[in-house]
Formats: sequence, C-alpha cells, structure tokens
Amino acid sequence: MSEQPTILAPDRTSFAPPTELAAQANATADSYADATANRLGYWADQAGRITWAEPFTEVLDWSNPPFAKWYVGGRLNAAYNCVDRHVEAGNGDRVALHFIGEPGDTRDITYAQLKDEVSRAANALTDLGIRAGDRVAIYLPMIPEAVVAMLACARLGAPHTVVFGGFSADALASRIVDCDARIVITADGGYRRGATSALKPAVDDALSKLGGDSPVDHVVVVRRTGQHVPFDDATDVWWHDVVDGSSPDHTPEAFDSEHPLYVMYTSGTTGTPKGILHTTGGYLVQTTSTFWSVFDHKPDDVYWCTADIGWVTGHSYVVYGPLANGASQVLYEGTPDAPHRGRWWEIIQDKGVTILYTAPTAIRTFMKWGEQIPAEYDLSTLRILGSVGESINPEAYHWYREHVGGSNAPIVDTWWQTETGGHMISPLPGVTEGKPGSAMTPLPGIVADVVDDAGQSVANGDSGYLVIREPWPAMLRTIWGDDERYRDTYWSRWEGMYFAGDGARRDEDGAIWLLGRVDDVMNVSGHRLSTTEIESALVSHPKVAEAAVVGAADNTTGQAVVAFVILRESAADDGTDVVADLRAHVAREIGPIAKPRQITVVPELPKTRSGKIMRRLLRDVAENREIGDASTLADASVMESLRGGDSRHANYCGTPRM
Ligand code: PRX
Repeated sequence: MSEQPTILAPDRTSFAPPTELAAQANATADSYADATANRLGYWADQAGRITWAEPFTEVLDWSNPPFAKWYVGGRLNAAYNCVDRHVEAGNGDRVALHFIGEPGDTRDITYAQLKDEVSRAANALTDLGIRAGDRVAIYLPMIPEAVVAMLACARLGAPHTVVFGGFSADALASRIVDCDARIVITADGGYRRGATSALKPAVDDALSKLGGDSPVDHVVVVRRTGQHVPFDDATDVWWHDVVDGSSPDHTPEAFDSEHPLYVMYTSGTTGTPKGILHTTGGYLVQTTSTFWSVFDHKPDDVYWCTADIGWVTGHSYVVYGPLANGASQVLYEGTPDAPHRGRWWEIIQDKGVTILYTAPTAIRTFMKWGEQIPAEYDLSTLRILGSVGESINPEAYHWYREHVGGSNAPIVDTWWQTETGGHMISPLPGVTEGKPGSAMTPLPGIVADVVDDAGQSVANGDSGYLVIREPWPAMLRTIWGDDERYRDTYWSRWEGMYFAGDGARRDEDGAIWLLGRVDDVMNVSGHRLSTTEIESALVSHPKVAEAAVVGAADNTTGQAVVAFVILRESAADDGTDVVADLRAHVAREIGPIAKPRQITVVPELPKTRSGKIMRRLLRDVAENREIGDASTLADASVMESLRGGDSRHANYCGTPRM
C-alpha cells in the first residue's frame, strides 16, 4: 500500500487539551515515557489497579506465540474487583447504576445492592448446576439484570457469552452450540420505541431448532415487560423465583489469571462468527487502566456509555472497566428518539453526566435531526466525549465538540476491536492533542505500527496496514475451540505481528488515521482510495447527513466508487441537481479521482443493531447482485427501499467516471 498513497484531504485543525483538565488529569506525559522505557514494568504497575488474591510472579509469558499468558501465577476474582472491594472500601452507598428504562421507570443501584444481587444470582446459578468452567449464554435487553448476570458468571468462573438481543434465534442457536452453554439467561421481552418486543420465544425457537443437540439444561427468565411467554416447567425458571430468594452471601473464589472470562462472537471474513476468548487478569487490568486514563475517570464523575451490553464495548466499558473503577454510570434501555429526539440530552441534563461514550453513527443521526435539539438542554456537565466503532469524520467531530461538548470537552477517538479487548489507540485527554478524524497515537504500553506489504514500517505521510507488534494484556487468547484459525486469522500475514484488518495512515506528525477495513479500501484506476475518506467528504457537504461508500467492480477502472447518501431534513428541494453537486464536492474535497461513479439518495442505510453500516450488502446492490445474508440487519425493510422499492427517494446517477 505504501507505494500508492491514499488520497487524503486532512482537516488541519488540532485541539490542545483544556488547561484545567490537563492540570488534574489522571494520566500525564510520564505514562508514555514510563511505558516506552519499560513496557512490561508499565503493565506490572497497571496491574496494581485491581486486587489480586495471590500476586503474579511473571508479567508476560510469550514463550509460545501467539498464545500469551499475562500475570502468570496471579489469582483473582473479576466480580470481587467490580463490586465487593468497593463495598469493603466504604463506598457501598455509591450508585453503581442509574438505570433508566425506556418507558421511564428508573432504578438506582448502589455498589452494596449490586454486591448482594450478584451474590444471589451466583448462588442461584450454583443451585442450577453451574460450576467453574461451564458456559452460560445471556440474551437480555439493557437492564440491570444483564450486568448482574455477567458478574454472577464471572464470580463463579463460568464464562459468559452475551448474545445481542437483536440477533435472531438462528444466531443464538449457533452460539449456544459453539460454546456449549448449559444455561440461557433471557427476559420475557424488552422495550423498543414504546413497544414491547419478545425475547423468550427466540430462545425457545433456538432450542427447538437444536432439538436433541441442545446442551442447555435451564432457561432463566427475567420478567421485564410482563408480556405472556410460553413457559416449560421442565427447563424454564423465573429469575425472581430463583434469585430473589437466594442468600446475598457468597464467597468469591480466586481463579487463575488466565481463567476464561467470556466468549464474544464477532464476524470475520468468512460466514461463521468467531468466538473471541478473553481471560481474566490481563483483560481486567487493561480495561480498568484505560477506563481510568482515557476517560480520566474521577470518583465524582457520572459516566454514560451508550453501547449495548451485547457488544464488546458494553463488556469492557459498561461492565468491567467502569465497575472495577467504582464508577457511577447511566444504563439506558431505549433508543435515542423514544419518546422524543431529545431523550439523550435530557438524560445527560437530569443525571449530570460528565463523560459520554458513543459512536459516530449516533452523532451523525443527531446532526441530521439538527443542533436545535441538544441546544434545549443543559449539557455543561460534560467534560470528556468518547467515540468508538469507526473513524469519526471531521464534520461529526466538530459537531460533537461544538453542540454537545460546548467547544471545550476533548474528544477521545478510541480505536480498538473485539479482539483487542480494550482501547489501543486513542488520545489521552489531558496530554494528547486531538485532530478531528484521527485516533492519534497508541496508548502507553501498546506498540502499534503501520506497515507496507512487506511488513516494513511506512514513513510519516504514508499509508499501510495497522499492526500490533507486541502482545498486550487484554488481547484475545484464541478463537474458542480453534487455535489454528486464531493463528491464521491474526498472526500469519507477517511474522510476529498481529494484523488488525484495518488500513491506516501515519500523518506528517506520526498520528494515526484509520482508513477502514482493508477490504473496504478501493483501487480505482490504480489509485488507492479509502471509503472512509470519501464518506467524510460527502458528509462535509451541508446537504448530507450520512453516507456510505463501497467499491464496486468496474470493467474499465477495476473498482468504481459508489455512494449511498442520506440527505439532511433541512436539505430543501431547491431544484438543484444534488447528485451533480455532490460529485463536484467530492472532486473538490479530495480530487477528481474520488468522484463517485454513482450516487444514490436513500432514506436509510443498512445497519447492524450496533450501528455498523453493512457495506457488503451495499456492494451487492452496487454490483446488481442478489443480496447476501441480511439476517443481522437492524431493519430488514431497508434493503427493499435501496433496491428501488421506494423509488420516490431514489436518484440514480449513472454517469460514468470523470
Ligand atoms: O475497523 C475498526 C473499527 O471497528 C473494528 C472493530 O470492530 P468491533 O470488533 O466490532 O469493535 C467495535 C468496538 C471496539 C476495527 O477493526 N473501529 C473501531 N473503533 C474505531 C474503528 N475505526 C476507526 N476508528 C475507531 N475509533
């Protein structure tokens, strides 16, 4: 990639950390210096942020790469670290979770209450036959029981596998079988935009599909909506029947540092999801450490991460990182537009949220709705803003900073993956400057690089592949049940390097700009173009709210740029040819080579429930193919409208090339 530099239109703005924040920041420039001088010494120090039942004797055993062992010989209990120790330290009355249900019900749960509830659930699971090492599947909405269930499993040393509530019965069944789960914890249903949606029937469906192959002995059902659900007394038990009556006393056992903590399924380049295995000690150290440094967390902060518990962000930065730090956080069940489009800002105002962690796709949605909505609320408590999931395009960055962060709160653009377990590349808010669109530099103790096809580091100003050169504590240990696939997928491209699958550019100052998955990088007439880049250019046009770009096969140019855009509501039909305007705009922003061959104005983009745009499906549309597996779409009807089913919105521009 290095010989064909990506065409970039960098936003040259850069924001220094606010002076006051920098003066009191948890992490200082010393963190970088310490970690550079002695990486393992740095991670040994960070391990002091958690409580060990027995100390480790070696920080890292890397004698059998790529199979790492961190904090060798150490023993600990993750749930003890997330709840008990805060109560023992006298902070039992501190609110752990400010739960806000979509219908408006609220529950504040203190650390003392959380400890009792986790202990009760651990006792109940033990009574149902769960022992250390058994797997438990969790299929729940964003309710406190989801957090309790995860911590109860961790307390017992029973790895959990949380399946996002929006996944189908088929997806649930394949995960249950792959990790051989003995119990499924679910709910009757959850709330979404004012309506209830059932969950338990999907579990029944999954188990009946599996028939005699089902490893599941029991289904534990939380009553959330009160809707009627089928109940089989042979297998099904109500959460309140088995948990509420259990003892709140439970002595946590200390497990080996490398004891499995959870399996999280994520999609790869093949059809079958990969079960990413995280273990206890290293994962807890890195999530605890980065929560403290990247979000600059202080005891009186009110933190809110909007990710669902079903994704790795919900694991690392709703459950383990924040709770191990004794944080008070908001847990919100619903969507941003229920019952009105100011719901998030209302929550921030009511709870005095100080740290907000969300995704660029949400920011762009708010941009589409207009800045007058957040302007109606007092957001002045916010002091740190986080972004995750994809590069935040400069347009969204500026909007987030100005209309949410009062032009003062720094934005931490955190690059990481399900596989990395914790933050890897991100600014430290009191130390690192912020450039809109860049995740900046590897965090202390992380050795990331951008390399060319031969695995050589690229020079500043060049693009290549993002790799991690040294093991890190929260790294995945393997793909569940498939060591070979683990080695092949992540460690085989270049000797001794973890290949993340992302393209990146290192700018003139050495800051890292993520360019999207390498399979999303296009080659048009021999020029390398990034989908992210063109999307960013499109979104910088005042009429565009959101854009997705794919490379479609083209007989003449190899690949051609095809764009799908959602217009802002304010983009009145003023009679101009918006498609022609946008092509000209991209040509202006990046260069004529980047001009999309085709731009389609659409009402929605196909997204997973976590908000990721499914470019694979857009590529199918762009290449006029039969649409592939769309089962993980949040809204299946979107594909109909893209196919031209809703032709009122469609506006095709077939004019080829420049
Ligand atoms: O392509 C990168 C993108 O999301 C991928 C990881 O996805 P997942 O495992 O689902 O985890 C998402 C939450 C951590 C990465 O390979 N990605 C994630 N964060 C960023 C990002 N791309 C650019 N900038 C980010 N901040």
